[in-house]
Amino acid sequence: MDAELKKKILLLHGPNLNMLGIREPGVYGAMTLADINQRADVHTREYGFHLTAHQSNHEGQLIDWLHEAFQKVDGVVINPGAYTHTSIALRDAISSVSLPVVEVHLSNIHAREAFRHTSLLAPVCVGQICGFGWRSYLLGIDALVGHLTGG
Ligand code: DQA
Repeated sequence: MDAELKKKILLLHGPNLNMLGIREPGVYGAMTLADINQRADVHTREYGFHLTAHQSNHEGQLIDWLHEAFQKVDGVVINPGAYTHTSIALRDAISSVSLPVVEVHLSNIHAREAFRHTSLLAPVCVGQICGFGWRSYLLGIDALVGHLTGG
């Protein structure tokens, strides 16, 4: 199918996720960000959707990508990293673009330190998936595609 006609998913990774594979492998696993993006891309194609993935360590850059997604993509899967717990600005950006957003985390944030138990973003997302390692991303794509197609 023509890439322009396919539904589009934007995958955003927040701070420190460029260090996956090196960073606390006991918590986040051994897979690199490139490996995860590759698997996410293959998984998205199986649905006939198109995936674009970006990572940034900067809050404003993530916000800019969300704004740019307005009326250009069909939905977003985001691992906001530590901004999950701190960023009102990112939450407002998600509300501003009124796109369906699925929040994902590699680790089970609810089983970790108390400061990770709260997500400022989850209330403006379709839902949250956490605790399944790299598979959280694939589950996030499944959930978003189901949301978009009514399947
Ligand atoms: C994370 C969980 C966050 O609490 C943490 O700050 C991260 C990674 C995860 O994927 O498990 O950077 O989002």
